[in-house]
Amino acid sequence: MIKTAVCGVGRTGSEVLRAILDSEQFQLTAAFCSPGSEKTGRDVGDLLNRNNTGIIIREITQIEQTLGETLTDVVIDFSNPATTRALLRACKKNRAAAVLCTTGYTEAEQLWMNEFVRHNKSGVVFAPNVTLGVNVLLAALRLVARALPSFDYHITETHHSKKYDIPSGTAKKLAAAIEEELPEGAEVPISAIRAGGYVGLHTVMLASDYERLSLTHESFSRRAFVEGALVAAEFIAGKIGWYNMEDVLGMHVAPQTAADAV
Ligand SMILES: NC(=O)c1ccc[n+]([C@@H]2O[C@H](COP(=O)([O-])OP(=O)(O)OC[C@H]3O[C@@H](n4cnc5c(N)ncnc54)[C@H](OP(=O)(O)O)[C@@H]3O)[C@@H](O)[C@H]2O)c1
Repeated sequence: MIKTAVCGVGRTGSEVLRAILDSEQFQLTAAFCSPGSEKTGRDVGDLLNRNNTGIIIREITQIEQTLGETLTDVVIDFSNPATTRALLRACKKNRAAAVLCTTGYTEAEQLWMNEFVRHNKSGVVFAPNVTLGVNVLLAALRLVARALPSFDYHITETHHSKKYDIPSGTAKKLAAAIEEELPEGAEVPISAIRAGGYVGLHTVMLASDYERLSLTHESFSRRAFVEGALVAAEFIAGKIGWYNMEDVLGMHVAPQTAADAV
């Protein structure tokens, strides 16, 4: 059993809790909410409208002590960029790994996290989009852009109206993967739509003067995130290093180098 804690008990974190409680492979050790949250002190079962589980939701400020007490192997994070420093420090102290699914980090925050993990020999999967299909799309797009560098590329992303980061971390990642394959300086524009209850829709459209190709990924339910997060948690348990979902899925298509192109 992989002893797993969940940071962030909102829309997605709650689904992760539900899946872990139903799993025979994962054991829930702890759940963390924001400081001062009304969820503090509630049993996870109460939050999920189930029987009591004995796991009491604690504030993020208690993460270091709790991971130690529970001998947690992995923390799955769907919370807020404000949690990450405390989370990574607590993981380092208690030799727990982390699957970071939160989005909206600044470049400086990402740099800090990456350096912290490498310096302290922690284990992290950094997964701004954790869905299995999106990560296969990423690998496919590298090959598409490599074959069709003269086409115009455009990404459209649509999410529910409460999503605060615009454009989405996934759209930025798709654009970056394409740009790495295109001639230097090429930029892939992103259009973002915030409307209703969309879970996550990304379309990459590419066109020449004569033809159009479009690749679309859509998550139907938050369960798509949960499945990916659990695959990543299984991968990172007991490992050190900084990984992404392409590593987890063994789908790493390395950017084309000048030497390869000759
Ligand atoms: N990587 C992916 O594929 C993926 C997929 C879905 C979502 N996400 C990202 O995951 C994050 C959460 O998404 P969501 O839709 O579940 O949002 P949500 O429903 O708003 O949940 C966010 C949760 O984070 C908690 N939180 C906020 N600040 C915190 C803090 N300082 N310390 C500890 N917990 C804190 C909140 O706790 P309280 O309830 O106690 O206030 C809330 O439960 C977002 O960044 C979202 O973009 C990523």
